[in-house]
Amino acid sequence: MDAGEILGTVPMPAIDEHRVLVPPGVSGALEWIASEGELTDMEPVARIAGQTVTMSELWPVRKARPVRERLDLTEPLVTGQRVVDLLFPVAKGGTAAVPGGFGTGKTVLLQQIVKWCDAEVIVFVGCGERGNELADSLGSLAELVDPRNGRSLLERTVVIANTSNMPVMAREASIYTGMTVAEFYRDMGYGTVLLADSTSRWAEALREFSSRAGELPAEEGYPAGLSSALAAFYERAGRVTTLGGQEGSVTAIGAVSPPGGDMTEPVTAQTERFVRCLWSLDRDLAYSRHYPAVTWRRSFSRDVDLVAAWHSGQDRSGWARDRARTMELLTEADRLSSVTELVGLGGLPPRERMVLLAGRLLREAVLQQSALSSHDAYCSAPKQAALVEMVLAIYDRLVSLADAGVPPTTLEDFDLSGVTRVRDEVPPDDASGVELRRDEVLDALQKLQAEVLPSPGAGP
Ligand SMILES: Nc1ncnc2c1ncn2[C@@H]1O[C@H](COP(=O)(O)OP(=O)(O)O)[C@@H](O)[C@H]1O
Ligand SMILES: [Mg+2]
Repeated sequence: MDAGEILGTVPMPAIDEHRVLVPPGVSGALEWIASEGELTDMEPVARIAGQTVTMSELWPVRKARPVRERLDLTEPLVTGQRVVDLLFPVAKGGTAAVPGGFGTGKTVLLQQIVKWCDAEVIVFVGCGERGNELADSLGSLAELVDPRNGRSLLERTVVIANTSNMPVMAREASIYTGMTVAEFYRDMGYGTVLLADSTSRWAEALREFSSRAGELPAEEGYPAGLSSALAAFYERAGRVTTLGGQEGSVTAIGAVSPPGGDMTEPVTAQTERFVRCLWSLDRDLAYSRHYPAVTWRRSFSRDVDLVAAWHSGQDRSGWARDRARTMELLTEADRLSSVTELVGLGGLPPRERMVLLAGRLLREAVLQQSALSSHDAYCSAPKQAALVEMVLAIYDRLVSLADAGVPPTTLEDFDLSGVTRVRDEVPPDDASGVELRRDEVLDALQKLQAEVLPSPGAGP
């Protein structure tokens, strides 16, 4: 037998089964295998070429577990978080960093992904953050029911806790331990996600070690090896063919907490170089309670093209077009709103005022998403698409009304709260509920046009 081959399985209803593999480095004739029954994880289950195999395995956590082949990334990790899935998607096997100052919503965003993403196994590393926060989130995880099988979500979630009150010695290892656990399940042929909150606390542990060891510090006291340590960590993510010939993946997502929200500090700046996606949290958005506070100005995703191709394959070829229009409108609305500060709203032509209105609708009806709402915390792909299409269709109608001569103030004063409320009013899977709302609003706008601009000859 060769490394990676399946020796046997243990029922594990949350993910189907736990697969017992021939460990890396072991191969040869199978001399003995345990018969079916209950065994502990340290008891022998097989002997291969004189080596005893147990269900648990020792592995030096700083070292990546071997794979047969690294594969191209092909599909998105669906997180159910609209700003991520619609604007800055991450591929299964990809990497993302979430930089943001204190209180901007890093932990909430990571927790939302733990709860709703479509990975099979989740590994959450609580690294140097406050213990009571971790305890709270564990409590809420335990209450959550896995939508796939009705079981507790905790049954397929591994939590590695190294909170701020625990020894700094263990902190450096916690991130690697999480990655190794994620690779261990990947090797069984599962899609896994590793979330680390926060990689900055880990980098601080690296700094503390190197200063104790008397190393010459580099930027802001961090060791010269910081950048290679970060690179080595994110490189362990990927989609692979395992040694046993199965397909598996590790997606790595790390929060970054720059002191004072300074995005140019070394850990943030270095991390940005090594990740495929950046979900940058903005203090001003968070202060104005625009959550998740992911800004479209600094965030990026290098996985957009492959995700667009994947959506097309799923009969959703509109995804890329809607994303492009959304980004364009958001950017243009930002530009116009700074122009407005100088010239006032009245100084803008009607069409540009409609862009401003569309920007607001996109922010409020699509990008904002309440983690606390039972309808809104998770959003299925069809409901996401319907929300974007609704806002774009309304924007197109507003432009045509403005072109027809309806005064922009009338359009700006028109009650569009139904548009911004619908994400919270219809269930997570209900795209048709959103379409219904879109049609109601489009009808109402049509009526408005008829009232404001009576057609010629229709008068008394
Ligand atoms: N998606 C969201 N929905 C509702 N509230 C949110 C959301 N994201 C963040 N918040 C609010 O922001 C607060 C701080 O978020 P948190 O994730 O703890 O910040 P950080 O980890 O960046 O310090 C939360 O307690 C919550 O009140
Ligand atoms: Mg936090």
